[in-house]
Amino acid sequence: MKGQDAIIQKTHLKDYCKLKYKITNVDLDFSLDSKLTIVKSKILIESIDPNQDIFLHGEALDLQSIHLDGHNLAEENYELSSQGLTLKNINKTKFELTTLCHISPEKNLALEGLYLSGDILCTQNEPEGFRRITYFIDRPDNMAIYNVKLTANKKLYPYLLANGNCTGFGDLPNGLHWASWADPFPKPSYLFAIVAGQLGHIKNSFKTKSGRNIALSIYCDPGQESRCHFAMESLIKAMKWDEQRFDLEYDLDQYMIVSVGSFNAGAMENKGLNIFNSALVLADQATATDSDYMAIESVIGHEYFHNWTGNRITCRDWFQLTLKEGLTVFRDQEFSADINSRAVQRIQDVKGLKETQFPEDASPMAHPIRPDSYVQINNFYTATVYEKGAEVIRMIHTLVGEEGFQRGMKKYFELFDGQAVTTEDFLHSMKIANPHFDSNQFQNWYSQKGTPSLEIHGHFDQDHNSFELIYKQQQKSLNKDSEINNKPLLIPLKMGFIAPNGEEFKPKLKDDAQPYWDQGVVALTKTEGKVKFYDVPVKPILSLNRSLSSPIYLNTDASLEQDLHLFKYDKDHFNRYEVGQKIIADWIGENLASKSKLDLSPKIITAFAEIINDQSIDDHMKALLLSVPTESVLHQRQKPIDFIKTKLSRDLFLNTIAQAFELQFLQIYKNLYPKTKGGFASEKVGPRAFKNLCLSFLARLGDSYKHLVFDHYQESDNMTDQFTAIYLINNYFESEALSVNNSFYQKWQNEDLVLQKWITTQTLGSDEKVFTKVNQLKALPEYDSSIPNYVRSLWGSFSRNYSMFHHSSGKGYQIFADQIIELDGINRSMAAALAKTYRIKTSVSEQNKKMINSELERILKLTHISSNLAEVVDQILNS
Ligand code: ARG
Ligand code: ZN
Repeated sequence: MKGQDAIIQKTHLKDYCKLKYKITNVDLDFSLDSKLTIVKSKILIESIDPNQDIFLHGEALDLQSIHLDGHNLAEENYELSSQGLTLKNINKTKFELTTLCHISPEKNLALEGLYLSGDILCTQNEPEGFRRITYFIDRPDNMAIYNVKLTANKKLYPYLLANGNCTGFGDLPNGLHWASWADPFPKPSYLFAIVAGQLGHIKNSFKTKSGRNIALSIYCDPGQESRCHFAMESLIKAMKWDEQRFDLEYDLDQYMIVSVGSFNAGAMENKGLNIFNSALVLADQATATDSDYMAIESVIGHEYFHNWTGNRITCRDWFQLTLKEGLTVFRDQEFSADINSRAVQRIQDVKGLKETQFPEDASPMAHPIRPDSYVQINNFYTATVYEKGAEVIRMIHTLVGEEGFQRGMKKYFELFDGQAVTTEDFLHSMKIANPHFDSNQFQNWYSQKGTPSLEIHGHFDQDHNSFELIYKQQQKSLNKDSEINNKPLLIPLKMGFIAPNGEEFKPKLKDDAQPYWDQGVVALTKTEGKVKFYDVPVKPILSLNRSLSSPIYLNTDASLEQDLHLFKYDKDHFNRYEVGQKIIADWIGENLASKSKLDLSPKIITAFAEIINDQSIDDHMKALLLSVPTESVLHQRQKPIDFIKTKLSRDLFLNTIAQAFELQFLQIYKNLYPKTKGGFASEKVGPRAFKNLCLSFLARLGDSYKHLVFDHYQESDNMTDQFTAIYLINNYFESEALSVNNSFYQKWQNEDLVLQKWITTQTLGSDEKVFTKVNQLKALPEYDSSIPNYVRSLWGSFSRNYSMFHHSSGKGYQIFADQIIELDGINRSMAAALAKTYRIKTSVSEQNKKMINSELERILKLTHISSNLAEVVDQILNS
């Protein structure tokens, strides 16, 4: 472990112990100032055993005074360490502890606890930020009632916000003022929040179904108010939807959202006072793309839905993170599916899952959705906990159906409202409400890591009109520590039978062990098994794992003809998309393996033509059906990955399609163009996506379409089109790109969100100039390493320029490591997040592995390395 033992200290799920003492009430009094904030805290502690020591978490706190039940606490009665404060020989079962601490928001670049974003003071306390505000039992199973008073300079901080309801405010001498807040709901410390600053705002209200009026506010930097309206509309939609679909109503009298520019994550569900990354609140026609709008709608929903799944019922410990995150992602996905297009939503959610979670699950960083141990819980806000977690919830939904699921949710709130619970408690509720649900076997999805593979063969018996589905499930052992990982999972497989004439039929099943066939779902429970169907008139073509009913790799012996049949006839739009992706990925794979360039089969061209000409498919679905798997998805089929050839092969496919359909693409582009002017509107998203896809194909054909792309850039009146154009210009028309980039940069210099988007189009080149370019971008006066959005856009996009990041010189790995080292001293969770990029190590060539290892070793030698970064680097290095 290379001398890192001191930092790499693991916490294990099996060591969880119930609290032997707890804090029940909290009074906090803040004198706010960016340089030095004074935090006076009065907490009520109840202890079972009067003789036990009491430990309170606390980090980077400057303790000024400490009193117990009004008396100065003697030095022998407490001990301070870098982790916190231990109270000794108290001899009481109930007492009040008062502490006074100094903290410095301005110096807090980790963005955990109380920090400064621009001129706004704000907090981020999940998972363990509260211990940087005051001494506390900073774990989620300590739920307490909070009262808060904020005092600050009125000019600098005219708005003073905290959780719950405002109970008073007033002016004070010396230009100061105060406000007090009370939250009637007991909550864990990670949901505590305050905000102070000069804020613009918009207001609205929502009438709940029981007739209560909720005041809604969105706060932002002054001047940004007009960009908050879409977020407000989304909030109102989310509140209504949660009442209709889940019968859940909001519980406080006011709901506030604050947009800030510096934020480590996307957003945070603090009770009654959500704090958001501005990228997920602010939008207008000129600055936000359609995908920005869609992301805002979904994250506004997500944080709102947490009020019940997360806040009213919270997690017992951080191993249970998926209890609230998996469930809440599932809820936000359903929200978007219900109010937009279900098929499009599902395709996009699965696309995200396959691009980020599948690779994570195949890497040294793989972990179960409920991990067994961690060094820094901050490193576990992952695609696995969130997105695979949501897939696990979706499988329950698939098995028990919407009604059964809602019965289970009702049970969950009936049993656990107001408590901090576990994923078992959730499964227990689902089981009680749905006795046929085998929650026991299902539990394995929570404790096993890795994407399972499912192999399927079919056998048609013409004489008896029967069909046998033969399956085998497998979980590859991923790591050296191949622990558990082999219990068979309960895999819900949604499937359809399609006849050679394209019609779908539904055979019968005799098997009593298949209670879900009414929903078109078979449950595969064994490592190897068979399912027998009757009344099968013809040899079927199977549509398997419809809507991605389970998050698996599916392996079948289907031929190209069979796949093309599904691509043409499958009524499940999701599967139609999936099989299209498979057809393309198979071809790219074959081309990669072959010595000379392959020609695209005319059958594939015909299949594309049929989609393009099919009047019954809407534009958005067409855009998806005609899109090509990303490099990241293609890489997952290779070991070692050939980054350069993958890109070339993918380009060859795209270029062939562009040539084959040149005239049609141009025609479609021209027809759709007038319909897609203007700002975001749900009915414009599809046509705009299809139109821009056509333009992307045409741009590949070179100079003859240069004018079209440049006109598109000049004339576009919205950021979706503008961004597509600038991306294409940087990708295909390098010699003209410079002047366009300059004018774009001049125009948007003062808009961080636009600059951050633009930066992602600046790291595309496939020669070594990119390395210089990255450093030039970093040197821009607007670029700021302490603002996570800048770091993500520059270094994230650079690391997705695969052929350059993995360049044979090792230069890509090296400048990336330089950045990680620099960042660790600023923002440790960002440094750790970047370092995860190297997890691809186990899939690259031996030569690249060596180069990655030497960068990892260099990072690990850092003298003051954070435990966040050390955990990630150590794990990848030792794989
Ligand atoms: N609970 C927040 C959400 O999912 C995210 C908090 C992120 N925290 C972190 N340390 N990464 O809505
Ligand atoms: Zn969440």
